[in-house]
Amino acid sequence: MSRDDDHFDDDDRLDDDDLDDDSIEIPAPGMQRPRRLRRSIPLRDAVAETRLHPSMFCQPHFVVPGKKRREEIAAMPGIVRESADNLVRTVEADLKLGVRHVLLFGLPAAKNATGDGALDLEGPVPVAIKALKKAFGADLLVSADICLCAYTDHGHCGIVEDGEVDNDATLPLLAGMASACAMAGADIVAPSDMMDGRVAALRVALDGQGLQDVTIMSYAAKYASAYYGPFREAADSAPAFGDRRSYQMDPRNVREALREVKLDVEEGADIVMVKPALAYLDVIRRVREIVDVPVACYNVSGEYSMVKAAAAAGLVDEQRIVLENLYAMRRAGSDILITYHGRDVLKGSWL
Ligand code: PBG
Ligand code: ZN
Repeated sequence: MSRDDDHFDDDDRLDDDDLDDDSIEIPAPGMQRPRRLRRSIPLRDAVAETRLHPSMFCQPHFVVPGKKRREEIAAMPGIVRESADNLVRTVEADLKLGVRHVLLFGLPAAKNATGDGALDLEGPVPVAIKALKKAFGADLLVSADICLCAYTDHGHCGIVEDGEVDNDATLPLLAGMASACAMAGADIVAPSDMMDGRVAALRVALDGQGLQDVTIMSYAAKYASAYYGPFREAADSAPAFGDRRSYQMDPRNVREALREVKLDVEEGADIVMVKPALAYLDVIRRVREIVDVPVACYNVSGEYSMVKAAAAAGLVDEQRIVLENLYAMRRAGSDILITYHGRDVLKGSWL
């Protein structure tokens, strides 16, 4: 019994004598009142520690070959696969809303074992880059995802030898894909394959072709995540056998993420990315604390689809959930937010 009998009557009821002066907090002049700063919208806005601005958003797009094509993606309401001509129109509307950064993924006409459709200057992504740059020039920041998984018939992010993804054999192909996108006019190439040494391989290849001003945004800490499920439907890039755990990171690790990030910066990454975002806010924070380069995070397809599905079912308020998620990414330390929600946020004037 921890009861202090001196302070209680036999029937355990408190009376005035039981209350010594320290046991009750009586509001005194000068009491700390944090609520004072929450009294009105302008006051809360004035003291807000974290902000969102349209320039932070990067909108991903899925590009298909041909013309006049536009297909809904069932798992990702509001996101489509479209040909370059339609993409230009979509991006034009987004630019008016303030979305000035896009990230392009391609679905090639044909796949093969080595994914060399990824190096085709007439492939969907280089064609889209040329069209976007012709239409919008320097007003639009164009990033291109660099990875082979949408281009290989087995769906892995690299060349497969004896059932395993061969790191070093994959590097020249990634460098070739980055060069094709850069030559088409991409501002940023974003390797998402998780092969070791790929940032250096891209940097050397780009510099050797006079493309030294092309930025590398590396998916430095990219986890083997179930949150990529809807994307693999969108990009038709699910592996035909096995999984990606021999090259993407183990979700149990954070020190390993710091090692990956440091290596990518040493190899020449201009921007580093953490992916996914919401289940890895601690990783974003730790990365932010050890690098001086900008940090991006990828609010991935599964994170998007879950919010959309929950909102459609009437379980959550979409606007409030989306902003809360985006502020969490900013609070964790992310500068660039790659998110499928960007257009909705700006269209709805949610900021
Ligand atoms: C390709 C790639 C993937 C994503 C971005 N680049 C899929 C994967 O690694 O399986 C996921 C993006 C998303 O889920 O929104 N390597
Ligand atoms: Zn891949």
